[in-house]
Amino acid sequence: MEQLEQLATKRLGRTFLYFASIHSTNTYLKEQGAQLPDGTAVVAGHQYAGRGRQGKAWQSSEEALALSVLLKGVPPYLMQMLPILFGIGARRALSLLCGREILLKWPNDLLLGEKKIAGILCESAGFGEDALAVCGIGVNLLQEPSFFAELPYGSSLWVECGVRVSPAVAGGAILTAFEQVLEEFAAGGFSPLREEYAACCINLGREVRVVTPAGEQTGFAYGIGEDGCLLVKAPAGELAIRSGEASVRGVYGYV
Ligand code: BTN
Repeated sequence: MEQLEQLATKRLGRTFLYFASIHSTNTYLKEQGAQLPDGTAVVAGHQYAGRGRQGKAWQSSEEALALSVLLKGVPPYLMQMLPILFGIGARRALSLLCGREILLKWPNDLLLGEKKIAGILCESAGFGEDALAVCGIGVNLLQEPSFFAELPYGSSLWVECGVRVSPAVAGGAILTAFEQVLEEFAAGGFSPLREEYAACCINLGREVRVVTPAGEQTGFAYGIGEDGCLLVKAPAGELAIRSGEASVRGVYGYV
């Protein structure tokens, strides 16, 4: 890939690096970010140590997008919102490209037909003035059903929608939408974006299983808080979930 396509940004992706093969685009930006300009985007054809949330591995192939973008000078209140804001941007871009409404599973799995088509990993590195944020996304684009033989809850845009979106187009469109969401957040705060997020959040109105310091609990997810947390009514009281997973009954094999 020479460059990203459909990129209409002022900040994100203006510096662009492509690696045919690399350990992980997120790891690369965490290691090299101090020397790179704000907004640098990295795409890999193949990651041999791709990382997912909660210490899991992330499988990627040439038929998928593996993209990370570097943000510098991010204040703490924005840092904690990045997973949600990146999810909103990626969802907007990919929904337009595939012509279907993609749903979000809190905090930021992207779902089509209750199958995961993309995952997001936002990380931070460094301290004080050197602090940087890295937002990474893996999108299953062109893989055939056989790729998911051992990943029963995963799927691709091709399998679910019959559209062939290239990594270059998906990457450019996602960065463009993410920059727009960051600008909207800076101008108007989270309230309008919270409504958009809640309208496509598959957890809401359903029974969820969450892991809290007090152990695993089951409850009813009823809202998104002002900082992007998931609000859950559980038998032991109301919970505001800010980390981990919220399994949804009926999704990913949770019965
Ligand atoms: C998840 O759902 O667990 C998050 C998956 C994030 C994968 C992407 S691929 C590009 C970037 N580099 C990585 O090592 N991980 C993220």
